[in-house]
Amino acid sequence: MSALTGKSVLLIIGGGIAAYKALELIRLLRGRGLAVKAIMTKAAHEFVTPLSVASLTGAKVHDHLFSLTDEIEMGHIELSRSADLLVVVPATADLMAKMAHGHADDLASTALLATDKPVLLAPAMNVRMWLNPATRRNADQLKRDGVLFIGPNDGEMACGEFGPGRMAEPIEIAAAIEKALTPQAKPLAGRKVMITAGPTREPIDPVRYISNHSSGKQGYALAEAAVVLGAQTMLISGPVDLPIPPGVGMIPVETAEEMLKACENELPCDIAIFCAAVADWRVARVATEKIKKAEGRAPSLAMVENPDILRTIATRTDKRPKLVVGFAAETEKVVEHAREKLAKKGCDVIIANDVSPESGVFGGDRNKVHVVSAQGVEIWPEMTKQEVARRLMDKLSELLPK
Ligand SMILES: Cc1cc2nc3c(=O)[nH]c(=O)nc-3n(C[C@H](O)[C@H](O)[C@H](O)COP(=O)(O)O)c2cc1C
Repeated sequence: MSALTGKSVLLIIGGGIAAYKALELIRLLRGRGLAVKAIMTKAAHEFVTPLSVASLTGAKVHDHLFSLTDEIEMGHIELSRSADLLVVVPATADLMAKMAHGHADDLASTALLATDKPVLLAPAMNVRMWLNPATRRNADQLKRDGVLFIGPNDGEMACGEFGPGRMAEPIEIAAAIEKALTPQAKPLAGRKVMITAGPTREPIDPVRYISNHSSGKQGYALAEAAVVLGAQTMLISGPVDLPIPPGVGMIPVETAEEMLKACENELPCDIAIFCAAVADWRVARVATEKIKKAEGRAPSLAMVENPDILRTIATRTDKRPKLVVGFAAETEKVVEHAREKLAKKGCDVIIANDVSPESGVFGGDRNKVHVVSAQGVEIWPEMTKQEVARRLMDKLSELLPK
């Protein structure tokens, strides 16, 4: 008996050329022992027939929100919740836009809004539609909302153009469905993870400070991913404008010295990830009153070095976390500097990223990182900060001494 036996999928077929591949997908899913119910959008009827879909699912196709008989047999809310997973194949630009904005003006969008089950999208559209800033925004929003994605792949499209937007193959979608329906292992259950995030703020006087452009997005995404793997997770965060991920403990701090103190208070822990952009220097003497502007005379500020939080924790002789991970924001010679930092700071892994203004990493939603450790350098492709976080937490859970 497979882990999928007895589970069911609600397949929502959108109105795109790739809808014909939904038929092959139904065959694959039923072959794996899954029950499949289907909703077709109005536009989907232009591409595949309800008769083909019903023949393959062995069940009635649902396509009307305001159907009296359907509503009596199985209401739209029950339909959206009776399955273990909702899968949208193909996920059109239109369906993604509706989902991102919470629309519910037909059966498909209403079921997607009303469900309490995970949702997996297999987008398919013309490359320009996929790359359009509106679709990019919608996809990023849906990922933040916890919606799962498979594809799209790069390839030739039905319209003759080439690029990202081609729907993942039915076999890939079936594998993603299988993964989504298999209970996730919790490799970090019983482990404690501490993550620093955001910038620090070093005061000059009661109204001014020195800081940087760190948004905290990567650190917050890491905290979210650590919770998914079962870790007790503490975020030690400088001032940012982000919601605290569910299940994450939070210690807000302002200065580097406060951040170090908060980190030390959280020891012992299993994994410590230093993702915050800590100011290297602070003003030697913080003015107690606002420094007055004097014509032609700018104040000169004497600076002192801030504590090196990463090195302080990584080189401790007692309560050193089992795995110490540092982020290195570089604007040039990214890997070279990361290698030097690994040796100098005494940490186990350095995640190096290019934060030069052209990279758009600071404040942006995407990241391109190099993972540098004693084992060598891994160059990861550009992906969302959420994807970097998930992949990195998986890797750290493997590296963590048992
Ligand atoms: C021939 C044809 C092919 C289309 N293919 C796609 C597609 O692959 N992806 C997409 O997002 N929209 C595609 N569209 C546009 C959608 O059908 C249209 O946006 C429709 O409103 C989507 O409805 P739905 O999201 O409710 O299924 C296509 C339209 C036509 C006429």
